Amino acid sequence: MSLYALSNSSLDLLFSVDLISSEVKAQLHPDLHIRPLASTDYRRGHLDVLSVLTVVTDPGEAAWAAQFNAMRSAASTYYPVVIIDKSSDRIVGMGSVFIERKFLRGLGSVGHIEDIAVDKNQQGKKLGLRIIQALTCISENSGCYKTILNCSDSNIPFYQKCGFQQKENEMAKYA
Ligand code: ACO
Repeated sequence: MSLYALSNSSLDLLFSVDLISSEVKAQLHPDLHIRPLASTDYRRGHLDVLSVLTVVTDPGEAAWAAQFNAMRSAASTYYPVVIIDKSSDRIVGMGSVFIERKFLRGLGSVGHIEDIAVDKNQQGKKLGLRIIQALTCISENSGCYKTILNCSDSNIPFYQKCGFQQKENEMAKYA
């Protein structure tokens, strides 16, 4: 086993590593690794990469860990994934799917893809695509009848390349 694999075998993960598609793993560059978010990922630049998406306020490691634990305690609901650069052990990409249970469609579920972010230096290398593929697999394997997301007009071509179609409108009311 490599040093990287040894150091990562003891990670405290938010959900089972078995839920990440082996096909997606195999398509990543050998220097990269996709896995569930770990309780120590605050130290691997999690918020730095997230800040390519929007304004991020650093809550400090203890509050970050409390949020991690709150997500993990909601069973079968939150599935955040990260892509790690093995040589630096730093996060270079991330995304999440949230599974919403419903009363309609025979007690169906919907997967909501959220917070897709790829480090500026790593954009355009298919990391975003691999994250979306991994999250869609989790959503479909959880029995979701659809997987949806909101995005800006400028990101529509990216999601179309990932196999999504434009449908309906987004409404928002900020507090
Ligand atoms: N416009 C047109 N095409 C695009 C765009 C774009 N904005 N972004 C990617 N593509 C294309 C690529 O050229 C590629 O096409 P190809 O298969 O023909 O070569 C394909 O989409 C896959 O692109 P990736 O290399 O996987 O894209 P990347 O790794 O750069 O990730 C992402 C895309 C996530 C949008 C990244 O640029 C990023 O982090 N941007 C800033 C944050 C952001 O906007 N996140 C999405 C918010 S929406 C949400 O979270 C639900």
